[in-house]
Amino acid sequence: MRGVPAEPAALVVLVSGSGTNLQALIDACGDPAYGARVVAVGADRDGIEGLARAERAGIATFVLKVSDFETRAEWDTAIAARVASYEPDLVVSAGFMKLAGPAFLAEHGGRFVNSHPALLPSFPGMHGAEDALAYGVKITGATLFVVDPGVDTGPIVAQTAVPVEDDDTVETLHERIKVAERAMLVEAVGRMAREGFTVAGRRVRYGR
Ligand code: GAR
Repeated sequence: MRGVPAEPAALVVLVSGSGTNLQALIDACGDPAYGARVVAVGADRDGIEGLARAERAGIATFVLKVSDFETRAEWDTAIAARVASYEPDLVVSAGFMKLAGPAFLAEHGGRFVNSHPALLPSFPGMHGAEDALAYGVKITGATLFVVDPGVDTGPIVAQTAVPVEDDDTVETLHERIKVAERAMLVEAVGRMAREGFTVAGRRVRYGR
């Protein structure tokens, strides 16, 4: 059996909505053997359940709205610095509906991962579940990837497949994806935290 890691990896999680993926990570971190802890949760908007979940768990939160900055670049620089202030080992975008800019990637690139509700490279963008349903695919899923400057184009850490049912709506399909997505995220982030990972070209492997 794996022992308890000496120092759990510090996670900063970014959210924009209900935060069920965040909750799965918070719950997993309750076991010391998981090897990670959520040190802060950041958002681009107020009043979301994701922030409430963090507050209930006693985790530090911050909100930086794009509209509070003169330019998108200033917001990007500010959120990069705020995340850096928590000295994260891994930054997890879990339903964070903003693209990271150059300053954020300069600071956190290589340790910044994003979960997407489709089997990339199919159906990137804001509507992964909706676009897969509209296309008529029979299998879709979720992808965890290391963020690069493109839109959902970074090296893939993990994927999970989910069937599309004949009577699916966007909501029923996305909910089925999210069940599998949460399990994938917990498994992959835990392995990254405990084992480390390397990125060589497009190939991501666990281990140091
Ligand atoms: C998740 O399915 C995540 O993959 C998706 O938003 C959902 C958030 O759910 N993210 C994107 O679509 C990003 N392009 P949650 O707030 O319940 O974790």
